[in-house]
Amino acid sequence: MLAPAPPKRLAGRHVLVTAGPTHEPIDPVRYIANRSSGKQGFAIAAALARLGARVTLVAGPVMLATPPAVDRIDVETAREMADAVDRALPADAAVMVAAVADWHVESAPQKIKKGNATPTLRLAENPDILATLARSPHRPRLLIGFAAETECVLEHAFAKRIRKAADWIVANDVSGDVMGGADNSVHLVTEAGVESWERLPKDAVAARLADRIADALETAS
Ligand code: CTP
Ligand code: CA
Repeated sequence: MLAPAPPKRLAGRHVLVTAGPTHEPIDPVRYIANRSSGKQGFAIAAALARLGARVTLVAGPVMLATPPAVDRIDVETAREMADAVDRALPADAAVMVAAVADWHVESAPQKIKKGNATPTLRLAENPDILATLARSPHRPRLLIGFAAETECVLEHAFAKRIRKAADWIVANDVSGDVMGGADNSVHLVTEAGVESWERLPKDAVAARLADRIADALETAS
């Protein structure tokens, strides 16, 4: 039997979610990517929509179906993701789950051919979408970042919350099989401190986070 529909606590709210990796072209046939599957971000978009939010999901290249009642915008590169986020504003809350590439390649207009010299890739920094949004006049009331770390998880998460001027950071240890896996073990870092959640399926992490977002928007309005 289907679980009863939850109360529409986010009706009338617009929530922006970024998810998945970005791909940064090297030339017309090659790119740099990362291991993000997009599952956690898509699960969060789905959970927010179940609570009645209007959800805009800006998705990097992933092999996932669009959750019901979610507006999806597909992008490839970090710079396209930054533009799509900008166009989707204003929003009451934003959850930046995407594993955005930190650099793009100064890409070649034609396929690089094997020759005498091994090519060297020149990298340039991508815009930081979360940090830019935090300082924008259209900053959502609740701005949430993710921090995927392989060591010193909480230490990095605390620093990221301050550096990026985010309200919350959801930190996770990705040194195991989290990227692409079905479960996630996260710490919610807020101004009030840290809550460490038990290891849960990504859908359950998403449902709990969506509830917390609804709580925060109810108290802030
Ligand atoms: N993020 C972003 N734009 C970028 C890089 C990251 O919006 N160009 C967001 C991610 O979506 C995430 C948060 O910032 O919500 C933290 O990303 P992360 O890669 O962990 O942080 P960085 O500041 O890039 O630091 P590093 O990769 O060196 O750990
Ligand atoms: Ca990064």
